[in-house]
Amino acid sequence: MPVITEIEDLRRLYKRRVPKMFYDYAETGSWSETTFRENTTDFDLIRFRQRVAVDMAGRSTRTKMIGEEVEMPVGLGPVGLTGMQSADGEIKAARAAERFGVPFVLSTMSICSIEDVAAHTTRPFWFQVYTLKDDDFMQRLFDRARKAGCTAIVITVDLQVQGQRHKDIKNGMSAPPKLTPSSIANMMTKVPWGLEMLQTKRRFFGNIVGHASGVSDPSSLSSWTAEAFDPSLDWERIKQFKEMWGGKVIVKGIMDPEDARRAADAGVDAIVVSNHGGRQLDHALSSIRALPEVVKAVGDRLEVHFDGGIRSGQDVLKALALGAHATWSGRAWTYGLGAMGEAGVTKALEILRHELDVSMALCGRRHIEEVDPSILMVDDAFYSYKPAR
Ligand code: GLV
Repeated sequence: MPVITEIEDLRRLYKRRVPKMFYDYAETGSWSETTFRENTTDFDLIRFRQRVAVDMAGRSTRTKMIGEEVEMPVGLGPVGLTGMQSADGEIKAARAAERFGVPFVLSTMSICSIEDVAAHTTRPFWFQVYTLKDDDFMQRLFDRARKAGCTAIVITVDLQVQGQRHKDIKNGMSAPPKLTPSSIANMMTKVPWGLEMLQTKRRFFGNIVGHASGVSDPSSLSSWTAEAFDPSLDWERIKQFKEMWGGKVIVKGIMDPEDARRAADAGVDAIVVSNHGGRQLDHALSSIRALPEVVKAVGDRLEVHFDGGIRSGQDVLKALALGAHATWSGRAWTYGLGAMGEAGVTKALEILRHELDVSMALCGRRHIEEVDPSILMVDDAFYSYKPAR
């Protein structure tokens, strides 16, 4: 087993262990993948101000996210199909999150169902929904989430239509995987993955198959999004979902201050600055560049969370310093899961916490609440994109 010291080690191991179709699904952006790449590389335009001889005893990364105690301000963001990255993947990740003390967000596009995850955990998780046309299906999802003890729903608002990901089309990506000569040849090189997969029955979209009607091919993400997603979504509809759910609501996919104000007007509890991991609008700003303006617009009205490009605790610290109340990461834990199952998710969380803790200390801060923009030095290029004139 290689020595794992950083998230990148987990990614490399994950690439070796999991079929190409599923690795590519996670490790992709839309079209030219410019936004996907810049989500990570733009963090490089930000530097820390190192401080010395500051009392660093009694440090803690603990804080709260929407009123819930967390070990560090990093949630496991919703990722589709993680039960294909490792057998029963969502259960493994939710367990790791529970033991570590951070929120787990279950994707509607998960392989394990809401009920499966609830049956294997005790910490309440959050449930992510897309905005679908079928009100009955939406109400049933909300009822199922309530029954499972979920304490918040996360409404993804940036996927009324799907950004094209070339690799998924070329790979014929589906769950369960379609058996073609090339997918079989590739899976035969992933023996431990395959053996585990043969031992579970969870190989379909557990929240959809048997629950949603009118979808021609429920194994295909793209057919489901094209047929079931609501292209007419607007803020009135979001308010309607908020009423149908009746609990805490987080809106994910906000990149613009104007949209952030609308979300605050709709009375939601938190928003997530996110461009869907660079998988939707290619050439949108990276999430980290979008963050400061959104914080300026609504930071005093609701919690602004951040998602996009987090691969280290230093990235977490930079986002917090730019005003995020907390962060989410999708790929970091997915790499861990694909690399080493539940232990890999725990490893990813430990790496992020250690990096966050040490970096915070070297910036002269002992608590998350003390992190502010004054710990940063930012390159002019970070602010270089301006509205067109
Ligand atoms: C689903 O939300 C995806 O980005 O694949």
